[in-house]
Amino acid sequence: MALHIAVEVVRDSRNSLTTQIQEFIKREISEGILQPGTRLPSSRRLAGDLDVSRSVVVEAYGQLVAEGYLEAAQGAGTRVVGHLEAEPAAPALLDEGQVPRVRWDLRPGGGNTPAFPRREWLRCYQRVLQETDSVHHGYPPPAGDPALRYELACYLGRLRGLRTSPDHLMVVAGFAQTLSLVCEVLPRLGIDELAIEDPGHPGQRQFVRESGVRAVPVRVDGQGIDVEALAASGARAVLVAPAHQFPTGVTLSPERREALARWARDVDGWVIEDDYDGGLWYERSPRPLALQRMMPGRVVYAGTASKTLSPGLRLGWLAAPRPMLDELLRARARHDLGTETLTQLAFAELLRTGLFDRHLRRLNALGRRRRDALDEAVFRYLPGAVVLGRGAGLHAYVRLPRHTDEGALVAGALRRSVLVRGAAAFHAWPRRDAPALVVGHAHLPCSGVAEAIRAMGVRSDADALLP
Ligand SMILES: Cc1ncc(COP(=O)(O)O)c(C=O)c1O
Repeated sequence: MALHIAVEVVRDSRNSLTTQIQEFIKREISEGILQPGTRLPSSRRLAGDLDVSRSVVVEAYGQLVAEGYLEAAQGAGTRVVGHLEAEPAAPALLDEGQVPRVRWDLRPGGGNTPAFPRREWLRCYQRVLQETDSVHHGYPPPAGDPALRYELACYLGRLRGLRTSPDHLMVVAGFAQTLSLVCEVLPRLGIDELAIEDPGHPGQRQFVRESGVRAVPVRVDGQGIDVEALAASGARAVLVAPAHQFPTGVTLSPERREALARWARDVDGWVIEDDYDGGLWYERSPRPLALQRMMPGRVVYAGTASKTLSPGLRLGWLAAPRPMLDELLRARARHDLGTETLTQLAFAELLRTGLFDRHLRRLNALGRRRRDALDEAVFRYLPGAVVLGRGAGLHAYVRLPRHTDEGALVAGALRRSVLVRGAAAFHAWPRRDAPALVVGHAHLPCSGVAEAIRAMGVRSDADALLP
């Protein structure tokens, strides 16, 4: 491997060349400039680059190995010692700081990464690389590549019933960027409060607050967001996940949809529709269509590839009526210069060829099996608990019997190496409804779901925690 390293040596120094190389590399390691595990060039190459005899470098490397700064392995070259441990991935917009290492991590927020359609993605990416002309190697259009916007308009109309067109779409870096743009634009429209669902996504709550917009929690019940409470809050914009509320999984009832549309008209307001797990649906009846179709002039609809492909792609999209889209595009121009082109085109190709639909069918069959496994495991190991929000998603809301000590259950699970969140963490105000667990299962096989729930060992502690 023809590696390079920038080593400074001075020829007329009183120190020998060996000492200088040795001291230089030692200093770079100590100051953290050379990272643990960094591979160094061979002694022959470094000697050639520095125009010194090879024995000078061999001696310097030898000394650094002896002092424990470098390690040399047969066939693997010379490296800086020590390897950084891979950091656990933090679910988007959730969980900061220390995360304990556990056998079962049931936090929600991860993607369905094991099911990523590698072969199909590779095929599409390869075709794009072979066929893309040089135009696509310039800066992308700020709203996104026209090919992807066209495919998205077709897909969203077909699958989510959206009333939109390529001209009303913007490709973004996931829902996080949509939220960030919305929080930037709302105050420009004279709106500095955003109502959010309670319980809801704690990361989103914090994100909204930190962006300078006041987050106003509005309670969610069995029919979805309480529109009367929303009206009483005085807010003129609301963030909702109507198809599959996060974290309860409640679907906004038809009556509440109507009420929300009336509210938006009455207050001349905006609805931000988070369709974060659009494309996933495990029931026989169809997934409720997007709220956007009822009032396209008042909704910013937001989708993401995080749940159906991978959060690592940082790929999402939004649909908005024209004056709002222009504001969002202006805000976008202050953030970045668009979304990376090849990813956009590969996704467009995945949509165009029908491979994405096929992937969704597989994903839904898998999700359905995992959901059934979760149902069964909860029935067996969490007596009296009920799984809610079963229709979609990569997590479930497991409501516990009323007098369960949620905190004790979560702490007990952690002692058994199961990291699971209690519902309290998702509420803005002290809890009003029954205790619950929010169980993310995206990354687990069906057998893992049952194992993880069993590992909580609740049945053996049942007398203490559950009736
Ligand atoms: C409620 C909710 N909305 C949106 C997202 C997706 O965010 P992004 O597209 O930025 O990955 C998530 C992911 O965890 C989520 O839980």
